[in-house]
Amino acid sequence: MPWFGLGVFKVEEGEQVENSVRMAINAGYKSIDTAAVYRNEEGVGKAIKESDVPREELFITSKVWNSEQGYESTLKAFDESMQKLGLDYLDLYLIHWPVKGKYVDTWKALEKLYKDGKVRAIGVSNFHIHHLKDIFEIAEVKPMVNQVEYHPKLSQVELVKFCKENEIQFEAWSPLMQGQLLDNEVLQEIADAHQKSVAQVILRWDLQNGVVTIPKSVKEHRIKENADIFNFELSAEEMEKINSLNENKRVGSDPDNFNF
Ligand SMILES: NC(=O)c1ccc[n+]([C@@H]2O[C@H](COP(=O)([O-])OP(=O)(O)OC[C@H]3O[C@@H](n4cnc5c(N)ncnc54)[C@H](OP(=O)(O)O)[C@@H]3O)[C@@H](O)[C@H]2O)c1
Repeated sequence: MPWFGLGVFKVEEGEQVENSVRMAINAGYKSIDTAAVYRNEEGVGKAIKESDVPREELFITSKVWNSEQGYESTLKAFDESMQKLGLDYLDLYLIHWPVKGKYVDTWKALEKLYKDGKVRAIGVSNFHIHHLKDIFEIAEVKPMVNQVEYHPKLSQVELVKFCKENEIQFEAWSPLMQGQLLDNEVLQEIADAHQKSVAQVILRWDLQNGVVTIPKSVKEHRIKENADIFNFELSAEEMEKINSLNENKRVGSDPDNFNF
């Protein structure tokens, strides 16, 4: 799985998403993160098809939405996503949120898709430790990825540790806290020291913590900027400074308390 990719949440279907994905692939991105509920899978698929990069070099993620959870309905939702994307296999399929009373059956459907070779990896999103433990009880195939909100104000230390111990790759959503961290003074100071931007420092912090990251942008200069993080290194002291910014603060819902 690539360490780095493009997120397309809130990117409009049609020209906007097609342009973003095209610009990202041209800038060297291999990984694209979409979801049925983003309603832009057709545009993502179109941009993939039109690119010169062979399908097998790309890593495409989608997710089953909450209203479609359950065994049969997940299988159906998967087919619909694949039709929209125009792909014959997916690299990663995730349960978008742990819908009470449903996510265990949904997991069984993901296992079926995996065993049938329709998806190369299966995982979850927005799962706390107790949700993961529920899956472990019934799983024949363990979740390979947990994609959750993660940024310097929400560093999820216990969950990161649990995922590492159980060989589940941790993946950050809203790594830039949807833009709310860009004026942080501590991050700015570190960025200045490396002649990098605050966004680049945050994304580099993800990588050095072993976290896969998928920032979203629809602007070409930012798409390029966000990918330019493989040529500098944060010191142990800088990593520690960023770790200490944690306030357990979310921009999204707590997976134990959501109503969608
Ligand atoms: N599994 C889940 O439940 C879940 C939930 C939320 C998100 N996600 C995934 O995670 C991805 C990323 O999260 P996100 O979209 O919520 O937020 P994000 O990546 O943290 O932040 C995106 C925001 O930051 C701006 N931005 C991007 N790069 C920038 C830069 N270099 N400098 C300044 N501003 C910059 C973008 O604006 P412009 O576009 O105008 O550049 C946009 O407003 C999503 O797209 C989605 O794929 C998953």
